[in-house]
Amino acid sequence: MFDHKIDAADKGVMYRDLASALRGLVSGEPDPIANMANAAALIWETIPGLNWAGFYRNIGGELVLGPFQGRVACIRIKFGEGVCGTAAATQSVQRVDDVHAFPGHIACDSASNSELVVPIVRHGELIAVLDLDSPEHARFDAEDEAGCVAIGAILAEVL
Ligand code: SME
Repeated sequence: MFDHKIDAADKGVMYRDLASALRGLVSGEPDPIANMANAAALIWETIPGLNWAGFYRNIGGELVLGPFQGRVACIRIKFGEGVCGTAAATQSVQRVDDVHAFPGHIACDSASNSELVVPIVRHGELIAVLDLDSPEHARFDAEDEAGCVAIGAILAEVL
């Protein structure tokens, strides 16, 4: 059994422990789907207040649904569309306090109110995006962004 029970009381400690657990999980494993699947599960059981956590992969210039935890989601997203497509097209983090105010937001789950999308880039090329959704408004702050960027950097090496 793998038990990665991480204490979420202190956000800094939580992200440090999450990064360390993720490094252990993916080290030596070359399969990107396996690594994304375990990353999604680890994020889901560690970061509080989420209703969706997972990946969209860059398949030929389109985002295609990858491993995730949460409700069934839309499968294909064009670059430039919605929060994920904007992160993909600009290769920049999108931290959105109110998704309903985001132009073109794609409402996969009507319960989502805020979203954090981190592009995963290797040698200048977009590999995937990490997408976190929350039913809370403004759920994600700068510390969440930094913690998830660190997770993205770990994954960039193994996807
Ligand atoms: N809301 C996202 C779509 C993906 S789901 O949230 C899982 C967006 O606007 O890109």
